[in-house]
Amino acid sequence: MSSNPTGESLPYVILRDVLDTDSAFLDELNAPEVGGEWDSFDDSPDQLLRGEDFGGGKQVVQLDDETLVGSVSWVHVPYGPNAKSLAWSIGITIHPDYRGRHFGASAQRTLAKQLLAGSEANRVQADTDPKNLPEQRSLLRAGFTLEGVARKAQWRCGNWHDRLVFSVLRHDLFG
Ligand SMILES: CC(C)(COP(=O)(O)OP(=O)(O)OC[C@H]1O[C@@H](n2cnc3c(N)ncnc32)[C@H](O)[C@@H]1OP(=O)(O)O)[C@@H](O)C(=O)NCCC(=O)NCCS
Repeated sequence: MSSNPTGESLPYVILRDVLDTDSAFLDELNAPEVGGEWDSFDDSPDQLLRGEDFGGGKQVVQLDDETLVGSVSWVHVPYGPNAKSLAWSIGITIHPDYRGRHFGASAQRTLAKQLLAGSEANRVQADTDPKNLPEQRSLLRAGFTLEGVARKAQWRCGNWHDRLVFSVLRHDLFG
């Protein structure tokens, strides 16, 4: 267990690198019916941008007993021409069988700490659809703050969509 800024306990999750043996689980997570309407795109898988091309990566989320419950990903977002101004943008999918148990919030907080501990960045951000209430609840529980709206920033399902932008700063996590 760890806790968030309001002192609420978050369940213990482990983030670990992806193994070949995770491919069936990851394929399941990538299915449109699992990602849901806010995490499914018109593009075919081979047309999607590769996180690795943006300083990014992916890990799986597992429990203490090695049960796989989801995945997290991250990419760089530049806020200036210098390395220190590279922020991180994160994404997450928790398998439907394991939703509603705050594994998402715990994984988001753990990932934010991990990314800041391993880089000079000052900021981890996440954006989501204004109607994706579980993701908003999860980010707030993880200690992120709502900053505002990135207007019509995402092309999805034949339309441009607003994105709510949340962030957590180094100071928020490490004082
Ligand atoms: C968003 C997501 C990562 C949240 O993960 P999670 O582990 O379920 O998060 P939490 O357990 O903290 O749940 C968040 C809130 O949604 C509710 N909720 C969401 N799905 C639920 C479900 N299937 N059963 C019960 N409650 C659910 C929870 O009750 C909780 O509300 P609360 O704050 O009032 O307790 C997960 O729902 C998911 O993977 N969604 C699909 C992919 C997606 O939208 N990713 C983000 C794209 S920007």
